Amino acid sequence: MKKKTYFIQTYGCQMNEHDSEKISWLLENMKYIKADNKEKSDLIIYNTCLVRENAELKVYGQLGALKNLKRKNPKLIIAVCGCMMQTEKARNVILSKYKHVDIIFGTNNIHKLPQLINRYKQTGKTVVDIEEENQEIVENIESNRKYSFKAFVDIMYGCNNFCTYCIVPYTRGREKSRDPKDIIDEIKKLAQAGYKEITLLGQNVNSYGKTLNYSYTFAQLLKDINKIKGIERIRFMTSHPKDLSDELIEVMAELDKVCEQLHLPVQSGSNRILKSMNRKYTREDYLQLINKIKKAIPNISISTDIIVGFPGETEEDFNETLDFVKQIKYDSAFTFLYSTRKGTIAAKMENQVPDTVKHERFQRLLDTLYPIFYEENLKYLNKTVEVLVEEVSKNNEDVLTGRTRTGKLIHFKGDENLIGKMVNVKIKTAKSFTLEGYII
Ligand code: SAH
Ligand code: SF4
Ligand code: F3S
Repeated sequence: MKKKTYFIQTYGCQMNEHDSEKISWLLENMKYIKADNKEKSDLIIYNTCLVRENAELKVYGQLGALKNLKRKNPKLIIAVCGCMMQTEKARNVILSKYKHVDIIFGTNNIHKLPQLINRYKQTGKTVVDIEEENQEIVENIESNRKYSFKAFVDIMYGCNNFCTYCIVPYTRGREKSRDPKDIIDEIKKLAQAGYKEITLLGQNVNSYGKTLNYSYTFAQLLKDINKIKGIERIRFMTSHPKDLSDELIEVMAELDKVCEQLHLPVQSGSNRILKSMNRKYTREDYLQLINKIKKAIPNISISTDIIVGFPGETEEDFNETLDFVKQIKYDSAFTFLYSTRKGTIAAKMENQVPDTVKHERFQRLLDTLYPIFYEENLKYLNKTVEVLVEEVSKNNEDVLTGRTRTGKLIHFKGDENLIGKMVNVKIKTAKSFTLEGYII
């Protein structure tokens, strides 16, 4: 019998990407094989995000386009999962307007997918299965990972911070830490399978351990992971400035495998806006943290997230953000236009910033940031860096790409069989987003 094929389209953050790797593992256990494209598959899954409106709109657009495919092939199964499905509103939109969707499930019951597929096959009726809260962490799912040398590992789920703009706490539920033993066992297995780099995932990794019934911190977890033979690089994201402890900075500086890289979202450089965002730190607190970190780890690269046009953001507030990014000298940044998310506190705030103003400020922020990234990258010129080779460049098949410990993207000539290996590269050209060099 011809094997059934599947296709997963993923939106959103690394958490969702990693969830898709778990879904893929579950499907391959059911003997599905991966299809190259939607048109050729028997099962299509959309793993959705709703952190900003455009993420949501993309999903609806794509789902609309699937109507034709389903008409041509009535046996095609279409499933939608992920953060959007954790809201009743989005589920109702799917149920009423996208009737060709067969299965709806959420972020807390991925493990039930095989069951849900079978239920749909038996009844032919739309299956909706959602768990509002992550009651218990399910440990028996493995992942069909995208790479064979670097891996995402979840360390916690959910978020308790309720930043006033953010929908994540309403979709992913309350913060819950995975048992350290389960995390360490998973990483040991990865190391045995030849994995060299791991990225620990959580919405706020610095508060890892708070839901365990004994005392164990994120810094301790890093120490324990650092002992695992075979693992060479440890990364993590995301860190919340309010929970980044001195203990963690010390441990980051001390442990050889923890990479010199920190993603520390600032969101705004204005204290008034930070307060209104419920971020629980001031620009002075943040600056002090950065100074401490740079002192402990001088070559660390720092990246951030910034939101432009939060309700009530004045020209003065925005200029404070511009001044702040110049002062910190970020290595890279994800910049976002504020997007109103229904159900959050900020959605009800007065003084929403007009779109034209948001766009104009956004451009000014980019114009400020790009020269800073370039300036930071210039520091790498003529230096030799250790690079984990990741893949062949999409634009040039003679060129490989990889990353430094500091997370910098490097382009260099080399043979495909170097993928997954560490090489030393001497940097010859710096650009705002990449560095180029040659293997030595
Ligand atoms: N837990 C992480 C990341 C969460 S989402 C953290 O706290 O940093 C990733 C980024 O999306 C956030 O850092 C924020 O900059 C952005 N974001 C979240 N909600 C948003 C909204 N409503 N509009 C625009 N950007 C948003
Ligand atoms: Fe959202 Fe804030 Fe939680 Fe990050 S820390 S997921 S921005 S509520
Ligand atoms: Fe999006 Fe959910 Fe991640 S809303 S950013 S996929 S946690």
